[in-house]
Amino acid sequence: MILILIGPPGAGKGTQAQQLAREFGFRHLSSGDLLRAERASGTDLGQRVAAYMDAGQLVPDDLIIEVILQRIFGDDRGPGVLLDGFPRTLPQARALDDALRRHASSVRRVLDIHVPDDVVLDRLTARRVCPQCDSVYHLTFRPPRVPGLCDRDGTPLIQRPDDQADVVARRLRHYHEMTEPLRDYYRRQGLLLTIDGNQPVDRVTQALRDAVRDLLAPPPASQRPPG
Ligand code: AP5
Repeated sequence: MILILIGPPGAGKGTQAQQLAREFGFRHLSSGDLLRAERASGTDLGQRVAAYMDAGQLVPDDLIIEVILQRIFGDDRGPGVLLDGFPRTLPQARALDDALRRHASSVRRVLDIHVPDDVVLDRLTARRVCPQCDSVYHLTFRPPRVPGLCDRDGTPLIQRPDDQADVVARRLRHYHEMTEPLRDYYRRQGLLLTIDGNQPVDRVTQALRDAVRDLLAPPPASQRPPG
């Protein structure tokens, strides 16, 4: 089962994806985490994407499409894949659809987390992340137990370079121009479910959990094939 989380930067995609992956056993595939890992390892891909990421620009479609598609089909463990940060442009969405069709599969649901721009700015400038395990914190809404250290592995937390206010503003512009059109693309296919992301983390999680449970529930007896 392929589920997609979309939403502006800072909507809470990573926070929610980590929780849903833990609860339901989904494989969490975050394009941002993946690209940051490539950079940290100094790979050729990491070096090619670094300048785009730091400037708050999207990396070119051909680079990200190949990397993500390899990962989606490279490992069949778990009941499904939760895509976080991909697709982010129409060409990426079409490439994903084409690849899934070749594997006799399709996107099952697109969970669209809606958050206004001013809230995004507040969230991202106070976000801290663990460079070791990618856990996400917020100085006010989700502080670590020991200030400055990751709850899971004690690693010192960092601020992402692209969480500076001017870079966040550019990322938001790119979101509205390049990613928002995906909402219509998936709405037309009857796949889009919009969730209010401007409420406490647990309430957003509950809304997403309900949506996922609906998908996993067996169909009512009247809709099951005979036999
Ligand atoms: P990526 O890492 O994917 O960044 P993003 O999509 O901009 O999303 P974020 O990680 O910033 O936010 P999030 O929605 O995950 O929010 P989070 O849970 O952390 O991409 C980075 C870069 O990589 C891109 O700019 C681009 O260059 C490149 N890239 C990646 N994918 C690409 C693609 N497909 N194509 C091209 N380029 C690509 O939460 C944010 C903060 O808010 C945290 O502090 C959290 O604790 C807090 N928070 C979360 N939920 C709540 C809540 N309900 N209430 C209060 N606080 C909350």
